[in-house]
Amino acid sequence: MISQAWMVMATIYAIQMCLMVESLPEANKIAGLPGQPQVSFQQFAGYITIDEKQNRALFYYLAEAETDPASKPLVLWLNGGPGCSSIGAGAFCEHGPFKPSGNVLVKNEYSWNKEANMLYLESPAGVGFSYSANKSFYSSVNDEMTARDNLVFLEHWFDKFPEYKNRDLFITGESYGGHYVPQLAHLIIQSKAKFNLKGIAIGNPLLEFNTDFNARAEFFWSHGLISDATYEAFTSVCNYSQIRRQIQSGSLTPLCSGVNSQASREISKFVDGYDVTLDVCLSSIVSQSQVLNRLQDSEKIDVCVEDETVQYLNREDVQKVLHAQLVGVTEWSVCSDILQYDMQNLEVPTIPILGSLVKSGIRVLVYSGDQDSVIPLTGTRMLVNGLAKELGLNTTVPYRAWFESRQVAGWTQVYGNILSFATIRGASHEAPFSQPERSLVLFSAFLGGKPLPEAILSVTPIRI
Ligand SMILES: *[C@@H]1O[C@H](CO)[C@@H](O)[C@H](O)[C@H]1NC(C)=O
Ligand SMILES: *[C@@H]1O[C@H](CO)[C@@H](O)[C@H](O)[C@H]1NC(C)=O
Ligand SMILES: *[C@@H]1O[C@H](CO)[C@@H](O)[C@H](O)[C@H]1NC(C)=O
Repeated sequence: MISQAWMVMATIYAIQMCLMVESLPEANKIAGLPGQPQVSFQQFAGYITIDEKQNRALFYYLAEAETDPASKPLVLWLNGGPGCSSIGAGAFCEHGPFKPSGNVLVKNEYSWNKEANMLYLESPAGVGFSYSANKSFYSSVNDEMTARDNLVFLEHWFDKFPEYKNRDLFITGESYGGHYVPQLAHLIIQSKAKFNLKGIAIGNPLLEFNTDFNARAEFFWSHGLISDATYEAFTSVCNYSQIRRQIQSGSLTPLCSGVNSQASREISKFVDGYDVTLDVCLSSIVSQSQVLNRLQDSEKIDVCVEDETVQYLNREDVQKVLHAQLVGVTEWSVCSDILQYDMQNLEVPTIPILGSLVKSGIRVLVYSGDQDSVIPLTGTRMLVNGLAKELGLNTTVPYRAWFESRQVAGWTQVYGNILSFATIRGASHEAPFSQPERSLVLFSAFLGGKPLPEAILSVTPIRI
C-alpha cells in the first residue's frame, strides 16, 4: 500500500513537473500517432490543469483542420455517458481523422477536421486520461461541476493556444452531451467569457427525461422489436421513464420488472439499442475476421471499432506520443469505472437552456440518428417543435427531406432561421459512426449556417 501510494505521488509529481515545462503548445504537439498514415495537418494532445491545488487536469486532443486551419472555426466535441470519453468515442469511432484497424490507423475520409479544427475533451475528471489526484472528487460529480471545469478548461486552453481565442467557436456533442453542451454554452454566456461562441449542435441528446425515455417503447414497437402485447403493457402497466427511475433508485417494482424483462426477451441480446439495424460486434477476439468478412460483404462500417480503440489507446507507445498518463487507474476505458456521477441530473431538463441560447442569438442544431432506440428521434423532434412554439419561432424551412449526393440523407425543419432539427437516415446514436458521409454534410451546413442540400433537380438527363 505504502509503495503504491508513493508511486502515485511520484507520478503526480512527475506530471506537475511536465506541466511546468510544457506550458507551450509545441510541447503538446503529436509527432505522429503510431500506425497513422502521413498527413499534413498538426495534432496536439495533453493536459490542461483545472485546479492546481487539488491537482485536477483534463486531457484533450486537437486535430487541426486538414487545410487552411487558420480560416476554419474551432469545434469542441463532448461525448456523453455521463462519464464517456470524447477521444475514444468521438475522435476514434466517429469523426476524428483516423480509425484504428488492427495495429494501424486508417484515414477517415469523412473526418470533421475537413471543415474545422476539432478539439476533443475528456471530461469530467475521471474520464479517460483526465484525472483528479484527490480521488474524493470522483465520489459525487454533477452537471454544474462538469460545466464549470469545462469552462476553466477552455479559458486555460485558449491561453495555451492564443491564435484560437477569437476564432468562431462551436460546441458540439451527443447523448448526455445534451446536458454538457448547452450547459457549457450557457455558462460561457453567463460568465461573459470573451469567446466567439456561434452555435451548438447536439446529436440524439438527452433533453427531457420523460419524453426521451418514453419514446423508446413506440420506437421498439414500430420497428418490430417488440410485440403488440408488450407495447400495450408499456402504455398501460409501466413505461420506460418509470423503469429507468426505479432502476436508478434500486427499487424496480415487480410490475415494471415484468414489462422490462418481457421487452428485453423479445428484443434479444443480439441487437444494439444504439442502432437497431446495425450488426453487433460479436467478440473482440474474433473481430479481425469479423471486419474482413464485413468488408467482403461490401459493408463499410466496422462495428468492432470501439474494441479496437480500447486496444489502441491502451498501448504504451500511443500513450507516450499523446503525452497521456494513467493516474489512479490501471487502464484507459471508453466510459469511466471510477466516476460516480449524480444520476439525479438525468432528470434536469435542458430544453429551457436551449431556449435561452436561442434568445442570445446562438445557433442551435439538434439532430437524430434515426435508427437509435436509446434516445429516439420522435421524442427529440417533439421537444424541439415544442420549444419553437414556446419561443414563438415560425417555421422557416418546412419539414422536408435533405440530400447527400442524390439520396435522401434525412429530414429537417428549421425555426426562425436559428433553431434546426434534422434526422440522419440510417444513422445510429453515434451518427457519424454509421453514417459518416451524411453526418459530414450536416456538420458542414451547420458550421456555414447554410440550409441542408435539397434534391438536385435536373431537366436534362443526369450525367455523372
Ligand atoms: C479532497 O477533496 C474533498 C472534496 O472534493 C475535500 O473536502 C478535501 O479537503 C480534499 N482533500 C485534500 C487533501 O485537499
Ligand atoms: C409514464 O407513467 C407515469 C406513471 O404512471 C405517468 O405519469 C406518465 O404519464 C407515463 N408517461 C407516458 C408517456 O405514458
Ligand atoms: C410568425 O407568423 C405569424 C403568422 O404568419 C406572424 O403574425 C408573426 O409575425 C410571425 N413571427 C415572426 C417572428 O416572424
